[in-house]
Amino acid sequence: MGRSGMPAGEMPADGGGWPLQAIWIRGGSPLRGTVEIQGAKNSALKLMAAALLTAEPCVLENVPDIRDVRMMIEILTGLGAEVTREGDQLRIVARELGEETPVEPVREMRAGIQVMGPVVARRGRIRIFQPGGCSLGPRPIDFHLQGLRAMGAQVAEEFGFIRVEAERLRGTDIYLDFPSVGATENLMMAAVLAEGVTVIHNAAREPEIEDAQRFLNQCGARVSGAGTGVIRVEGVEGLRGGRYRVMPDRIETATFLLAGAAAGGDLALRPAPVYCLEAVLSKMTEIGVHWERPDRETLRVWGAGAVEEGYRPARVRALPYPGFPTDVQPPMTALLAMARGTSMVSDEVHSARFGYVGELRRMGADIWTDGRTAVVRGVKRLTGAQVAAADLRGGAALIVAALAAEGESLIEGATHLYRGYARLEERLAGVGARIARVEV
Ligand code: EPU
Repeated sequence: MGRSGMPAGEMPADGGGWPLQAIWIRGGSPLRGTVEIQGAKNSALKLMAAALLTAEPCVLENVPDIRDVRMMIEILTGLGAEVTREGDQLRIVARELGEETPVEPVREMRAGIQVMGPVVARRGRIRIFQPGGCSLGPRPIDFHLQGLRAMGAQVAEEFGFIRVEAERLRGTDIYLDFPSVGATENLMMAAVLAEGVTVIHNAAREPEIEDAQRFLNQCGARVSGAGTGVIRVEGVEGLRGGRYRVMPDRIETATFLLAGAAAGGDLALRPAPVYCLEAVLSKMTEIGVHWERPDRETLRVWGAGAVEEGYRPARVRALPYPGFPTDVQPPMTALLAMARGTSMVSDEVHSARFGYVGELRRMGADIWTDGRTAVVRGVKRLTGAQVAAADLRGGAALIVAALAAEGESLIEGATHLYRGYARLEERLAGVGARIARVEV
């Protein structure tokens, strides 16, 4: 039962209509049982954009019911697609496609920019709101635009909007200065309907890009190399519809793994994309977390929790895949804040991803940051406090900390967490956490 008197399960999954929501946690309860891992947010959002490449129906299975997916639905319908949800399935039909992208959802969610490649490829033009910086740093989209220009598109930035036009895109060689996930996906999708062959060099290698390649090829595209640093796309005249099951969320899996390591107990996560969690799992071993893989798609984490176990400190560098994921850096830092010794954490993907550290300090953490680096001096225990999440994974760090902390915490800004974690309180409560959604 939430403190507001309403069970968490009856509240809207995305916090809609509850402008000021917080998550209350009383730390110290071990987590025992099984958590079902949802479909990957960062794959589902891109596959939804990819569905705009065809006029035929596409069905995506295992799509999580989170705020970001709802915002992407708004973008797709704003562009003229019909989107219907039935259980965990989304049916997307983009028979006709407009060129004006709705402003509000793109302003709220940067991933909205991922419709650019598909819409230009299919419709020949798009106008989209220029996404700004965010709490992780400036996050420009220059690689996306340079790549589209190289493929022959005219790009104009005017009155806060970006206009991209191309009668038909032409295949070419593109080199990315940094293996940007979003630019790789946008350009790969743009290239699918281009004339000739596009080769993306220094492409991002994240597993979600392989998921996109599999879906696109199922619809008749000719993409190869996803998962490596060179992606080759042979343009085709058109795509068919398709049905595809989104891969499980590796970041959500890692978040629950860290929650289990912090709180202690015996937690199973399933279906877990174990094959793409190597960097996280090897750090778990290094610091002394007990984990195992009882079968191909299950991860189990157990033990007495961070306070009793006294994990070893570590050096963690967040890098593009297959390096340690930047999206796991904040909850990992929260765990290291309770280790026996001093850890060094750096983030070489996002320039300003330590905003949550000030909130961890309120809980007693001893962390010092300088630019992209944090020095984390482990303390014996954290104490509950009133803190605020300013972004999704920073919020996850606060959840991990609060589950292991002594006493009660109140995490404001819960809406950030609902962008990426479906039914978070309900699922954690289901494995024994003392947690509730509250109104503040
Ligand atoms: N960058 C540029 N120019 C560009 C594009 C990127 O300078 O044109 C820089 C960014 O500023 C950043 C770095 O390159 O410093 C990496 O950005 P990338 O493009 O790889 O990130 P993204 O595609 O915008 C996705 C995820 C993020 C995740 C990053 C890195 C989605 C919807 N988002 O963002 O996920 O952190 O890749 O892995 O897929 C999250 O889920 O919490 C999240 C932020």
